[in-house]
Amino acid sequence: MISFVWAEDKNHVIGVDGHLPWKLPNDMKRFKDVTTNHPIVMGRKTFESFPNGPLPKRLNIVISRNPNYQVPEGVVLISNREQLKDVVKPDDEVMVIGGAGIFRMFEDIVDRLYLTRINHEFVGDTKMVDLDYRQFKLIEKKEGIMDKENVYPYTFETYQKIN
Ligand SMILES: NC(=O)c1ccc[n+]([C@@H]2O[C@H](COP(=O)([O-])OP(=O)(O)OC[C@H]3O[C@@H](n4cnc5c(N)ncnc54)[C@H](OP(=O)(O)O)[C@@H]3O)[C@@H](O)[C@H]2O)c1
Repeated sequence: MISFVWAEDKNHVIGVDGHLPWKLPNDMKRFKDVTTNHPIVMGRKTFESFPNGPLPKRLNIVISRNPNYQVPEGVVLISNREQLKDVVKPDDEVMVIGGAGIFRMFEDIVDRLYLTRINHEFVGDTKMVDLDYRQFKLIEKKEGIMDKENVYPYTFETYQKIN
């Protein structure tokens, strides 16, 4: 099963200058809860955006067109969608975590969406793909808690593909 995990602003912005446009620690916690113990699949640029290297307790799978791209030990490099099935188990929930081109690569086979919707406008250079939400059912929605560390209004939403 393929899932998407991401956060976007009011205008579907997801990134700026190779990093996230916002600081929202509660979303980082949600991301960790949702993805830990699952394989995560990401584009080469998203992988390079991690300040401390590969994320622990998750198989990190990086997609690049460069077959010689060097990844640290334990990280798996693939160059297309077909190679994914060789590196995950059939019953894994595979967490696709971006960026834009990687969401596009999987949008026709995604089953579940874990979206953090941030109700604010940010300057950005990377946007989420235009998903057809008519094909999905909202199965969970939680208002995000705001405090001095989490200053933007946000909601956590989970959608399941309608079969
Ligand atoms: N808000 C969020 O939830 C979220 C999530 C993820 C990322 N982001 C942000 O988004 C930005 C990065 O996203 P991005 O879209 O610019 O880059 P990205 O998808 O992370 O990485 C792009 C790279 O992936 C590889 N790639 C892309 N399409 C491919 C294909 N069809 N076949 C093989 N390889 C392919 C290429 O690597 P090579 O150049 O090595 O060939 C390409 O340069 C950053 O600002 C990041 O912080 C935000």
